[in-house]
Amino acid sequence: MRRIRIIGIGAGNPEHVTIQAVRALNRVDVVFVPDKGSEKAALRELREEICRRYIEHDNWRTVSLSVPKRAAAGDDYRGSVDDWHAALAESYERLFREELGEGQTGALLVWGDPSLYDSTLRIIAAVRARGLEFDYDVVPGITSVQALAAAHRLVLNRIGEPVTITTGRRLAESGFRDEDGSTVVMLDGEQAFSKIDPAGLEIWWGAYLGAPQERLVSGPLAEMSERIVREREAARAENGWIMDTYLLRRRSG
Ligand SMILES: C[S@@+](CC[C@H](N)C(=O)[O-])C[C@H]1O[C@@H](n2cnc3c(N)ncnc32)[C@H](O)[C@@H]1O
Repeated sequence: MRRIRIIGIGAGNPEHVTIQAVRALNRVDVVFVPDKGSEKAALRELREEICRRYIEHDNWRTVSLSVPKRAAAGDDYRGSVDDWHAALAESYERLFREELGEGQTGALLVWGDPSLYDSTLRIIAAVRARGLEFDYDVVPGITSVQALAAAHRLVLNRIGEPVTITTGRRLAESGFRDEDGSTVVMLDGEQAFSKIDPAGLEIWWGAYLGAPQERLVSGPLAEMSERIVREREAARAENGWIMDTYLLRRRSG
């Protein structure tokens, strides 16, 4: 039977790759590399570097998987994501049939860990639902949340209190909610932190965590907000892309 290994590769530093991931990579025949166009070229290069660095034999090849752009969400965010997943499931199925022989193993390298804001496991379930039989497993990776905590030498939660992981879109809608405890915000293209009431809040922000371009800012949100907006703009202009994550919580005492 064909086998697919879904391998978390960490959040931007090739040294995030675990020994379990290296062992898994060394047993694959084909690495499927998503191609999301030029703005994500840097991320594709990191995936390729990981393969070159850690795979110790020559009997593997990469197959590029072109990822269609998701339609603008409009009012129906879920609907546009579902349509996009269906289109992806169709192309994954075709590639698995065409590129993997019976008994061969393919790998999908997932940024960070597949359990966190990533579609791969949902798409794999959709491919199986279309009728293609294959076995699959998951190798965990270091998430950007862990990379953020390590970079700032942070414990994510206050003692006995919750941690919430959410999106910029949700933070912008609801503002900071004390009942959520320490709040990690991901996928924030609109700088939601600069649009909420900053009174009493602290922020720990990180961009390109784990990569050579890593940038960190922390302090009271009221004082740091503008600086982060400026840093973000400058970094995006310099690199052509940006990925950032931050933790917000109420100042204690
Ligand atoms: C589609 S999600 C993927 C998350 C990934 N599966 C993980 O485990 O971290 C992309 C979001 O993750 C965060 N992210 C991923 N890598 C990052 C990095 N190196 N530095 C800062 N944020 C990162 C950003 O919030 C970005 O918008």
